[in-house]
Amino acid sequence: MNKKPIILGIESSCDETAASIITENEQGIPIILSSVVSSQVEVHEDFGGVVPELAARSHIEKIDWIVQRAIDDSGKKIEDIDAVASTAGPGLIVCLSVGLSFGKSLASSLNIPFISVNHLEGHALSPKLNSKLSYPYLLLLISGGHTQFLAVNGIGSYKRLGTTIDDALGEAFDKTAKLLGIKFPGGPQIEILAEKGNPNRFQLPKPIFNKGGCNLSFAGLKTAILKISKDIKNEQDKFDIAASFQKTIEDILKKKTEIAFDEFKKIKTVENKIFVVAGGVAANKKIRSMLTKLCHKNNYKHIFPPIDLCGDNAAMIAMVGLEKFKIKQFSNLDYPAKPRWPLDENAAFLKGAGVQL
Ligand code: KG4
Ligand code: ZN
Repeated sequence: MNKKPIILGIESSCDETAASIITENEQGIPIILSSVVSSQVEVHEDFGGVVPELAARSHIEKIDWIVQRAIDDSGKKIEDIDAVASTAGPGLIVCLSVGLSFGKSLASSLNIPFISVNHLEGHALSPKLNSKLSYPYLLLLISGGHTQFLAVNGIGSYKRLGTTIDDALGEAFDKTAKLLGIKFPGGPQIEILAEKGNPNRFQLPKPIFNKGGCNLSFAGLKTAILKISKDIKNEQDKFDIAASFQKTIEDILKKKTEIAFDEFKKIKTVENKIFVVAGGVAANKKIRSMLTKLCHKNNYKHIFPPIDLCGDNAAMIAMVGLEKFKIKQFSNLDYPAKPRWPLDENAAFLKGAGVQL
């Protein structure tokens, strides 16, 4: 019996400090032995967004005991670890540097390989944890910083089919929440308020709904909600805004996912069509159920990571580490933090004014 690799993953790209130990079972399925996530919600909630300097300080204060706890919880000893994988980007450079330096130092002191990981690749591979999932698949990544459709062909091999040209979807949820007086990050609260509201009361814009392929845009929604939120008189008004916003997002995602299905078909002829939805917003139950129905209609198998693996965590970083370890794709100890690190390096930059779609 071959010894299965034991990988330590470390995540500190934004406002979660996380560490995790994973391995593989006899069937080759990645298994989480421990996953510790410490969120900084209280540190940032009064500021309406993540404050980089405060986030970095908090990572520094917590990183060593979080890694220690992940090792303790896993039932393994530090000497059992075969490689350390840390997020190297994209993210806030002051935050990335904490987990990256810690991971490099630990790997170096244990004399084991160090592996740098793209945070987005972590989200992309998160559904592989505890299950059997093979390439290729179509991925919708919806997080606080990114919103993209990608064809995932293998580790390190991505083709971007569509992207947001302005705000990320999680950002749009958080901005709407802020206008309704909900503290950061308010995305999950919008979903709860929406249940009590009338989704047809406000007609919100659907930017680039009928053009731009499966590219997306959400900035116009914020402007529209800013206008109507000035007339909020009671709680029901807030519920109706939340419900109208949630419904508009579902309409946009439905249409754009149908286009992404078509585009994926053009570049990949696969028998088993698989659609994976990952990132923090993939925790939204109504989005999940709408996309599930769409998959049934289009003969796609749908895969959502469990709710606790949708948001930022280190098990997904260890997951990428495990795949890279198996193909010996190690990193040197001078590997830099990369604030910008797209999965598809060949895709055009599509953000800002004057973007041609
Ligand atoms: O993937 P993630 O944890 O962090 C990033 O890499 O960005 O995503 C966080 C984002 C936040 O914007 C948060 O408000 C949003 O995901 N989010 C949700 C829900 N849960 C988290 N948005 C809508 N509905 C939810 N249930
Ligand atoms: Zn993330």
